[in-house]
Parts: sequence; C-alpha cells; structure tokens
Amino acid sequence: MTIPMLPFRILVFLLSCVPLALLLLDIATGSLGPDPGQTVTETLGLSALQLLIVTLFMTPLARWTHWSGWIKVRRMVGLFAFFYAALHLMAFLQFILGWTDLWATFTKRPYIIFGSLAFLLLIPLAATSTKAMVRRLGRRWKPLHRLIYPAVALVWLHFIFQARSDITEMVIYGLVVVFLLAIRGYWFGWHSLVPLRAAKRR
Ligand code: HEM
Repeated sequence: MTIPMLPFRILVFLLSCVPLALLLLDIATGSLGPDPGQTVTETLGLSALQLLIVTLFMTPLARWTHWSGWIKVRRMVGLFAFFYAALHLMAFLQFILGWTDLWATFTKRPYIIFGSLAFLLLIPLAATSTKAMVRRLGRRWKPLHRLIYPAVALVWLHFIFQARSDITEMVIYGLVVVFLLAIRGYWFGWHSLVPLRAAKRR
C-alpha cells in the first residue's frame, strides 16, 4: 500500500481534532444539555479513551495492511489521547469538584482512583514520546511505553466503575481492549505486554 505520508498525517491530525471541534461547536451553540460541565467532562474522557484504543490499533493495522504509515502516526494519536485526558481532568476539576483539597478529591471514589492512576501512567509516555527521548532511552523506551497496557486497563476500570445503570457500552469497549491486548500477546508473546521489563540481549 502506498499512501503519501504527509496528507495521511494531516488527515489523522484533523480527525483527532474532530471531537474537540464538535465539543466547541456544542458549547458555542449552547447544546450541551442540562448539565454542561458534566457533558464536557464525559465527552473529553470518552474521546481520550477512544484515541487510546486507536493508538493500540496502529500495530495490528500495520501488520494487516503491510504498511508502516500507521506506526508513523501512532505517536501523534497517543499524544492526542493524552491531550484529551488532560482536558478531561481539568474539566472535572473546573466543573465538578473544584481545585481545592485535591488529595481528598482524587482518593474519594474508586473510579477516580483508577482514572488518576491511569493519568499518572500516561504522563511518562507523553513526556518520552519525542524523537530525542526515544534516542536517549534507547532499549528502555519500548518497555517503558508498554505502560500503555495497564493504563488502558485502568481507564476501562475507571469507565465501568462510574457507570450508573447500563454497562453495554463499557463491555463493548472492554472487549475491544481485550482483543487488542490478546492479539498483541499472541503475535509478540505475552511478555510483550509486561511494562518496564527489558528485552533479553541475544
Ligand atoms: C485524574 C484522572 C481522572 C479523573 C479525576 C476523572 C474523572 C471523571 C469523571 C468525574 C467522570 C464522569 C463521571 C460521571 O459521569 O459522573 C469521568 C468519566 C470518564 N472518564 Fe475520567 N477521569 C480521569 C482520568 C481519565 C482518563 C486518563 C481517561 C482516559 C484516557 C478517562 C476517561 C473517562 C471516560 C471514558 C469516562 C466516561 C465518559 C462517558 O460517560 O461517556 N478518565 N472521569
């Protein structure tokens, strides 16, 4: 498959901006419903999870299509996932619980603890995603970036624990995540899912 890289990158960039653009449009037109703060927080959280899952899809897509372009945009999509997660967290503090007594806020409910842990795991991934950091970390970069697997699992726990009644949506997302982790384990070995574990020297 030969798709020119620059237009593809631009397309992926624009697609990643779509959830934010739609949200801003809803804000501008006042169509956020009865609880705008809650809607903004939920929309940003869901977009973060979706982009995290899209990031996990890049390796299988590269294998299935025999095209490395997917891998080349993976970092950008992952950074967008982090960006939405950070906005989600800020919206939560701004619209739902306020910026005071942060420790009490973050340890209040299990779903918030799961979300906070997931966010903490995403920080080193975002911070080491630059080319310079990839070079600097060398062989340690890959094991570190496997933190995305526990992070996505924690996000899913965060998602399901905050569910009020119908959990169909959460179950579907969970199955997609399990599928992505399972094919990774099947292709590259289950050890490839373990973060911070350096590959053995041959
Ligand atoms: C410090 C970290 C976090 C906090 C405090 C937090 C807080 C929240 C809150 C308050 C809600 C809404 C719950 C409700 O409806 O009452 C929520 C939902 C959600 N959050 Fe988070 N979150 C955090 C991290 C994350 C991260 C890192 C992600 C994804 C990468 C994420 C994804 C989601 C999703 C998917 C939902 C459900 C949205 C929906 O119902 O459509 N959260 N979060």
